[in-house]
Amino acid sequence: MINIVGAGLAGLSAAMTLARAGKCCRIISAQPSERAQSVLAEGGINAALDTMGEGDTYELHFAETMKGGCYLADPNAVRALTRNAPEVVKMLCGLGVPFNRNDDGSMMLRNFGGQKKKRTAFAKSSTGKMIMTALTDEVRKYEARGLVTRMAHHVFLRLITDNSGSCVGLRVRDSFTGKLYDLYGSVIMCCGGLNGFFPEITTGTVTNSGNAAAVLFAGGVRFADLEMIQYHPTTMGIPGKRCLVSEAARGEGGRLFSEKDGERRYFMEERYPEMKNLMPRDVVSREMYQEIRRGRKTYLDMTEISADVWDKKLSDLREEIMHYFPIDPKSEPVPVETAIHYFMGGIYVNARHETSLPGLYAAGECACQYHGANRLGGNSMLGAVFGGITAANNVKNDDNAEIIEYRGSDEFDCEASHGFVKTEGKILCDGLGIVRSEAQLQNAVESLGPLVCGNAVELARKELAAAMLLSALKRTESRGAHFRSDFPETKEEYRKTTVSHYENGSVEITFEDIPNDENTV
Ligand code: FUM
Repeated sequence: MINIVGAGLAGLSAAMTLARAGKCCRIISAQPSERAQSVLAEGGINAALDTMGEGDTYELHFAETMKGGCYLADPNAVRALTRNAPEVVKMLCGLGVPFNRNDDGSMMLRNFGGQKKKRTAFAKSSTGKMIMTALTDEVRKYEARGLVTRMAHHVFLRLITDNSGSCVGLRVRDSFTGKLYDLYGSVIMCCGGLNGFFPEITTGTVTNSGNAAAVLFAGGVRFADLEMIQYHPTTMGIPGKRCLVSEAARGEGGRLFSEKDGERRYFMEERYPEMKNLMPRDVVSREMYQEIRRGRKTYLDMTEISADVWDKKLSDLREEIMHYFPIDPKSEPVPVETAIHYFMGGIYVNARHETSLPGLYAAGECACQYHGANRLGGNSMLGAVFGGITAANNVKNDDNAEIIEYRGSDEFDCEASHGFVKTEGKILCDGLGIVRSEAQLQNAVESLGPLVCGNAVELARKELAAAMLLSALKRTESRGAHFRSDFPETKEEYRKTTVSHYENGSVEITFEDIPNDENTV
């Protein structure tokens, strides 16, 4: 029996893979799949399918992913990811995902940031929703056969370890009845990003509270590259969070400009004449930040996109923008700002998706190894699906399938309070902006110190928050999403993974070598 924590893309992909191999698993999640963050993924999924006659190859996909991540990603993991990407997309086609097609029936691909070839397969701009629908349906088949058990509305509380310190299960709480259960078997964490640490300024759902990650961190599981937080350049504010305006809009011809006193400046086109609006996100977001600091307002101009492209490729994006704002992007530029979108850092895993704790695996946004210092758009859904499959292929199948109702109380059986999360979020936002400095980070660390924790979850969150800030403090260089105004250069000696570890009541930050590229081909 294998326990999967999380019902999004990575979790479903893991469950499907296990079930297809005849292995039993449980999917444990605070929310059902229909409400997972993956449903909100818009732009597409990358694979060097080369259906647009541009001569794309997996080697190029590999090289651009490594370069986009500023060479911090695990090259062996990225090689496996990019080499298998076409198979992943073909598998999704087999499940009936309605990807856009060329007239000859081949896969239509679009441009995305940081990539010189059209490589992003898409279903208009609702790709996540379409893939999730297909995978949810596929997994239902195995639920009906008894291979997959769903435990939606169950909150992860803690791992269970044996005498040797290996993970042998987890404890959960049923949100409806309040009952606690110990579920035995190996565990694959697919619990998503740390959005809940950054309420208000994230495109992600704050249902991804970050509590599960915090509890793992406080339990000694190693995390990596926590300072690498991706800001998406084009988002719009809606109550409580940010609404994504997909990079697909720029892939289809949308243009960024800034304006002051009636003067428009297409700053990306001026400064990056080759890639223009499709530079990697870290670069675009920094440019946006600079424009805003100059007192200029930033807009996405989609008015030159043809009616045909709007109809066939972006109609749902247009509907979304018009739903939230009284603006028709076909005829009027849309005001956009940067917001947190993705966490490259997370639970440190190797290319087999093993964590530092035997018996514990991780995949999807909660795991760290594919994206380095900056993720390319379109690689997240790929990483989630392929990561889920890979974790499932490597996880040790444990025959222990016991579920025991636990009748005691658990120190992690409470949520972080709203007040704590808000204060903590403000401290983190102040410290971990697009541009950071020692003074800013030190200030945030000092503000975090006195934050009063009312329970064990809050204490765990505080330690993980400290690890994010300390990782950013220790990396005295600029690389990808981590830009230090006091250390603007990239330094070769920092081409290393930042590893965060909580031990004996304190957070340790060390740097580890990036694995050697074992490719012999
Ligand atoms: O802009 C987007 O559609 C985002 C895609 C991604 O993060 O992969």
